[in-house]
Amino acid sequence: MTTAKEKQPKVSADYNGYDYEEYWREHDRAYEDEADRMAIRKLLPKKMDNFVDIGGGYGRLANEYLKRAKKVTIFDYSKTELAQAKEKYGDKINTKAGDIYQLPFKDNEFDGMMMVRVTHHLKDLEAAMREFYRVLAPGGTFVIEVANKRTLPKMFRYWFKKSDINPFDEKPSNQKDTNMINYHPKYVEKMFDKIGFKIDKVLSVSNFRSTTLKKVFGAKTLIKLEQSAQENLAGVRFAPSIYYRLKK
Ligand SMILES: C[S@@+](CC[C@H](N)C(=O)[O-])C[C@H]1O[C@@H](n2cnc3c(N)ncnc32)[C@H](O)[C@@H]1O
Repeated sequence: MTTAKEKQPKVSADYNGYDYEEYWREHDRAYEDEADRMAIRKLLPKKMDNFVDIGGGYGRLANEYLKRAKKVTIFDYSKTELAQAKEKYGDKINTKAGDIYQLPFKDNEFDGMMMVRVTHHLKDLEAAMREFYRVLAPGGTFVIEVANKRTLPKMFRYWFKKSDINPFDEKPSNQKDTNMINYHPKYVEKMFDKIGFKIDKVLSVSNFRSTTLKKVFGAKTLIKLEQSAQENLAGVRFAPSIYYRLKK
């Protein structure tokens, strides 16, 4: 019999039994991977006591925080992902399974938190943000990547009537084909403020995420361009990933 405690959370994306590592390994994603890492290096504090990677999966980005934190936890709903993470990093990490909407952590437990490539799975980002605020210690840092609905390609698709999703409308959009949710920067920034987070720094990330650009210029060139674009384009917030460093 399943007890209330063991009840499976309602997740919009179930990565149990899915080889997410293969998605990164087998596909041409060196540029996107490096763009994420570049942003994380710029945003995460150099030293942290207790850090958690929320929806951290198999620990793709663990090398970016292992050296900076005394204690590291990878938190995820998927036991498949967490087992892969444990296999890779062993005693260097703790793993914890559970649902973002009911984090199994104490109030003010972490001084460092990160969540990358997860917002597009969250139907109730505000409820999740309240949980993140609860477990972050006062003065702590939360680096969050937000899937942006107001990108240039989405604007063109809308103007040329290829999509009926209006990227200028602040309400979150649900992409019917992929079931992924994208957020307008203004919508999330108002939400951060309402909850009590202070925005400390913003970066525009994966600015050149395009199969055509990758074919024409190659990942190496795009990575070089990405370095300065992350800071320089932060103001316009047109990239598919917007990174925020939030403080409590
Ligand atoms: C696209 S992967 C990103 C993994 C990692 N952050 C990265 O960038 O490589 C999304 C992860 O979020 C996790 N996830 C999605 N919804 C969740 C929820 N409600 N609670 C806990 N984890 C969740 C999935 O299991 C998956 O591992």
